[in-house]
Amino acid sequence: PEDRPADGLTVVITAGPTREPLDPVRYLSNHSSGKMGFALAAAAAALGARVHLISGPVALATPIGVERHDVESAREMHDAAHRLAGECALFIGCAAVADYRAEAPAEHKLKKREGEDGLTLRLVKNPDIIASVAARPDRPYVVGFAAETRDLEAYARDKLARKGLDMVVANDVSRQGLGFGADDNAALLLWREAEGEGQEDLPPQPKARLAEAVLRRALERLAATDRS
Ligand code: PMT
Repeated sequence: PEDRPADGLTVVITAGPTREPLDPVRYLSNHSSGKMGFALAAAAAALGARVHLISGPVALATPIGVERHDVESAREMHDAAHRLAGECALFIGCAAVADYRAEAPAEHKLKKREGEDGLTLRLVKNPDIIASVAARPDRPYVVGFAAETRDLEAYARDKLARKGLDMVVANDVSRQGLGFGADDNAALLLWREAEGEGQEDLPPQPKARLAEAVLRRALERLAATDRS
């Protein structure tokens, strides 16, 4: 018999970085390659889900069976997420969303100014995409990531509570060969349960395998939540 625990479910996944323009030729961004989010999309499709993958600018092929929605900025990703969030049972935010954007991107290319050593950019906060999805009255089961360089568990627990998530996938992005851009990753999963919290430690492994483990756990928790 086929092993398809996500049959009949729609899953929305965000992946990759966002790009926040400073002027027509420059932007603020980060080192996310999209590999982790694309691995989640491929795993969800293999487990039987209908998958919408909202992707920032990355150089990856779309996994087979996945519907891809390309975006650039955090605000575009936010709008795409809310267009699709009402249709899904499970939402996974793996994108490395820029927390800030330029308050007023320049219309023309910024010029180097003679006689001034510095340049001050004014930034404003971007919307928190995953927190706003978790705040919807028709909220899906919401899984967020936490990218940390220290105090992994404490910061992850704080994100679980503060963003109103059901589960958090915490990864230490300072570890050599793991995290941003790498083919492998490791994570600590934390999730809410009726009686407190559950957790699982996922050791370093290829992102494809880690993605499947995260999905299986999220699907199990989603099923348990529906029953209660
Ligand atoms: O793409 P790869 O190269 O494969 O690397 C994978 C990864 C390291 C990017 C991935 O495993 C990861 O950790 N993704 C989350 C990165 C991040 O931005 O984490 P954060 O701790 O800053 O954000 C916490 C959560 O809030 C995340 O689910 C994020 O998607 C979400 N968020 C953050 C800010 C914002 N404005 N809106 C959001 O939805």
